[in-house]
Amino acid sequence: MDNTLTATHLHLKVGARQLIEDVSLTLTCGERVALIGPNGAGKSTLLRLLTGYLPTASGECSLAGRALSQWSPAALSRHRAVMLQHTQPGFDWPVEAIVAMGRAPWGQKGERDIVQQVLALTGCDALRGRRYTTLSGGEQQRVQLARSLAQLWRDDAPEGWLFLDEPTSALDLYHQQQLLRLLKRLTQKGKLHVCAVLHDLNLAALWADRILLLHNGKLVAQGAPGAVIQRAVIAKWYGADVLVGEHPGGDAPQVFLSA
Ligand SMILES: Nc1ncnc2c1ncn2[C@@H]1O[C@H](COP(=O)(O)OP(=O)(O)OP(=O)(O)O)[C@@H](O)[C@H]1O
Ligand SMILES: [Mg+2]
Repeated sequence: MDNTLTATHLHLKVGARQLIEDVSLTLTCGERVALIGPNGAGKSTLLRLLTGYLPTASGECSLAGRALSQWSPAALSRHRAVMLQHTQPGFDWPVEAIVAMGRAPWGQKGERDIVQQVLALTGCDALRGRRYTTLSGGEQQRVQLARSLAQLWRDDAPEGWLFLDEPTSALDLYHQQQLLRLLKRLTQKGKLHVCAVLHDLNLAALWADRILLLHNGKLVAQGAPGAVIQRAVIAKWYGADVLVGEHPGGDAPQVFLSA
């Protein structure tokens, strides 16, 4: 199945505020896309539109050639999963049950082997019996990733679009690396496609094939990391005074704040 996701001329206005203005984009299968931009740029709002959590007032989003509005909620949930910026499940369940919730769109109970596999992949094995509300912020974030992967699991790996809103914001250095390596490994199989909002430009440059930069609801720059992570681009859209160099271990640009 061609899981290409397209958005054409998306607009969203709330009251007098234009939150999203004429955004068109195509997310191609197998891609790792980072969505960046300053606070309030509209990244979380755009993610909600792209995933069907917010209806489009104007413009259209489609997945595999079909408008999101024409998908049944269960079918859509089997093809795309979303990890939101702020997730509070509202009940105090054990971690294993939270992850198993990801299987709801498949109409099956249990599937313990899938739950075990995603817990292992995300380094959550030791958390399995803990109550979710007693976990640290970073632990909760890893469990939410496990739930999203469980939602997309087919046969022996996740398939479809995974949208992540700041998935590394609460993670320590080791777990940031583990998460990005895991997503790289899974996308290289060609069946999982990931679009992640990232504030850490250096992580975005190391990890993404393509970076989209949003500012005031508009897509103002996009391309390979080297085309977007440039001193003038960052200064213009973030207002930050930075230096941009090369990662010593590869060809990714890296950003340094000027003192
Ligand atoms: N329902 C709403 N009503 C009014 N304004 C809203 C609404 N939802 C979002 N906004 C505003 O739209 C703008 C974009 O919000 P959004 O959460 O998408 O930003 P963001 O790029 O994800 O920011 P951050 O990096 O801080 O997470 C913000 O200024 C926010 O205050
Ligand atoms: Mg946000």
